Amino acid sequence: MLSEDIEERSWCIETDVIMTWLPCMTCRRRLTQLRTSGSRRRRRLPWMMVTATLVFLIFSYTGVFETNRTKIKYVPRQHRPEISAIHHHHPNYSLTPEELLRELGSTLAASSVPSVSTEPDWADVQKARVDLMKEHCKRHIFSARKPTYGIGSILDKNRKLLYCPVEKVASTFMRRFMYSLVHNPHSKTVTYPFHVPIDVALKYKYDTTKTIHFRDYNKALNTKFLFVREPYSRLFSAFVDKLLVPNDVYWKWWAVPAVSKFRKSASAKSKRCGNDVTFSEFVKHVISRLHRTDPHVKSVKALCAPCEMNYTVIGHSETFSRDFRYLVDVLNISFEGNSSFQNLSIDVAKDAIMDSTNGAFSHYKKLQTCLTKFEMGQRLWTKMQIRGVISNDLEFPLSEQEMDEATVRSFMLLLDKAYAQSDNGTQLREQKTRALSEAFETVPVEDIRKLTEIYSLDFEMFGYDKYPDFIASILERDKTAQ
Ligand SMILES: *[C@@H]1O[C@H](CO)[C@@H](O)[C@H](O)[C@H]1NC(C)=O
Ligand SMILES: *[C@@H]1O[C@H](CO)[C@@H](O)[C@H](O)[C@H]1NC(C)=O
Ligand SMILES: *[C@@H]1O[C@H](CO)[C@@H](O)[C@H](O)[C@H]1NC(C)=O
Ligand SMILES: *[C@@H]1O[C@H](CO)[C@@H](O)[C@H](O)[C@H]1NC(C)=O
Ligand SMILES: *[C@@H]1O[C@H](CO)[C@@H](O)[C@H](O)[C@H]1NC(C)=O
Ligand SMILES: *[C@@H]1O[C@H](CO)[C@@H](O)[C@H](O)[C@H]1NC(C)=O
Repeated sequence: MLSEDIEERSWCIETDVIMTWLPCMTCRRRLTQLRTSGSRRRRRLPWMMVTATLVFLIFSYTGVFETNRTKIKYVPRQHRPEISAIHHHHPNYSLTPEELLRELGSTLAASSVPSVSTEPDWADVQKARVDLMKEHCKRHIFSARKPTYGIGSILDKNRKLLYCPVEKVASTFMRRFMYSLVHNPHSKTVTYPFHVPIDVALKYKYDTTKTIHFRDYNKALNTKFLFVREPYSRLFSAFVDKLLVPNDVYWKWWAVPAVSKFRKSASAKSKRCGNDVTFSEFVKHVISRLHRTDPHVKSVKALCAPCEMNYTVIGHSETFSRDFRYLVDVLNISFEGNSSFQNLSIDVAKDAIMDSTNGAFSHYKKLQTCLTKFEMGQRLWTKMQIRGVISNDLEFPLSEQEMDEATVRSFMLLLDKAYAQSDNGTQLREQKTRALSEAFETVPVEDIRKLTEIYSLDFEMFGYDKYPDFIASILERDKTAQ
C-alpha cells in the first residue's frame, strides 16, 4: 500500500473512531473505498449530480504548465554522465520501498557531525510567531464547545510532546520523527527520521489526543508544535502531489468530482479518470466542498485549534530547516549515525525522488487506461521541476519506448542524476515560485478571493501575506480590466 493511502487510511480510521458522533461521512466512504479497492465502480455520489452552475475556460495541463515556460534544450555537460544512458541497465520492478530507501539511502548526505547548532536568534523568531498567534486569538471569539481541536494530534507522553499534523506541510517527515522519538523514549539520541521507513511510520498507532481529555493535556505538555505553510502554496502542493501525477485514490476522490461538476461537456474519459483535471477546477472543488471535509486542504485553524492549544513551537515550511533544528534544540536530542540534518535539503530532495517515483509507478498500474506510461513519466518529471528538485532546463530525456522500459529504480536514478545536475539554488527557487504563480493565473479572480476568505485566519495567525506579489498582480489586473 502506498504511503499516502496509508496516511489517508490512518487519518480516517483515527478520525472515524474519534468522531463517531460527528457526520464523518467522507471518512467512512474513504475507508470503504480502501477496503474494497477491488470494486472500482462505485455509485455516483448525490452531490456529484449537482448541476454545474458555472462555466469556465478549460485549461489543459500543457496550458497550465507549459505555455509560459521558456524551453531551453538540455545540453549534457561533458564532465557528467549523460542521464539518458542510465535506464537501460536496471530492468527490475521487484524492489520494495525499503530496498529503494536503502538504494538511494546509501547516497543520502552523510556528513560527519550529528550535532545541533544552536541558533539563539531563532528563539526570537519563534516567540514572535507565538505572540502573533495569541494576538489574533484574543481578537477572535472561538467556540470552545466542540472538542474538535487537537483531534488526531500525536503524543510522545514520555517527553510530554504534542504534534498536530498539517497535511502538505512535511507531515510524513514529522510522523517519521515522532516514530523515532516514541521508539527511543529514554534516549537523547534518536533515529534520523529519513531512516524510518515511510510506511512503518504512517501505519504506526501513536498515542493521540483522543485517548485523554484535551484540556488535561494542554497544561501537562511541555512542547506543543505544528508546522504551517503559506496557504496558496499548500493548496497548489496538494494539487501537484495528488492530481498532477497518477493517483488512483485522489483522482477518484478529487479529480473526477471536480471535472464532472465544473467542466462543461467533459469527455467520457475525463469523467471516468479525472486525468486532465485542471488546477482551477480543483480550486472550485476545494471552495465548494473539500475545504470543509479534507485534511489536506482544511485550514490549519480547523485542524489544530491554534487558539485552544497553546502551541509553543510554530514551524514554517518556508524555513523548515531552521525550525526543525530549533525543535530538536528544544527537545535536547540528537540523531544517531552519520546523519546530520545540516544537509536536510539534500535528504528532502532524495526522499521526494524516492517517494514520488515509487508512488507514481504503483498508482500507474491501476490507471493504465487513463494515461500512457510516457505521460506518467513526463508528469513525474514536471512534478519534480515544480517542486524545485530538478531544473526546468532539463527536458524529459526518455523516448516513449525508453519510458516503457523504465523501472522504478531506473527512473529514480534518472531523477537523482538530474538532481545532481540542478545545482543552481536560485534558479530552482525561482522556478518553484513561477510554477505557483502560473497555476494561480488560471484561477478566476472571484475564486482567488474566496480562497483568501477561506484561509483568512491561517494567513493572519501565522503571519502570511494574503496578497503576495503573484496574487496582488492578478487582482490588480482584474481591477484595471473592469
Ligand atoms: C530484481 O531484484 C530482486 C531483489 O532485489 C532480485 O532477487 C532479482 O533477481 C532481480 N531481477 C532481475 C531481473 O534483475
Ligand atoms: C493558553 O494561553 C492563554 C493565554 O494566551 C491562557 O489564558 C490559557 O490559560 C492557556 N491555556 C492553557 C491550558 O495553558
Ligand atoms: C541536554 O542534554 C544533555 C545531556 O545529553 C544535558 O547535559 C543538558 O543539560 C541538557 N540540556 C538541557 C537544556 O536540558
Ligand atoms: C560514519 O562514517 C564513518 C566514516 O565515514 C564510518 O567509518 C562509520 O562507520 C559511520 N558510522 C555509522 C554509524 O554509519
Ligand atoms: C553537508 O553539511 C556539511 C556540514 O555538516 C557541509 O559542510 C557540506 O557542505 C554539506 N554538503 C552539501 C552538499 O551541502
Ligand atoms: C542561477 O540562476 C539565476 C537565475 O536563473 C541566474 O541569474 C544565475 O546566473 C545562475 N547562476 C549560475 C552560477 O549559473
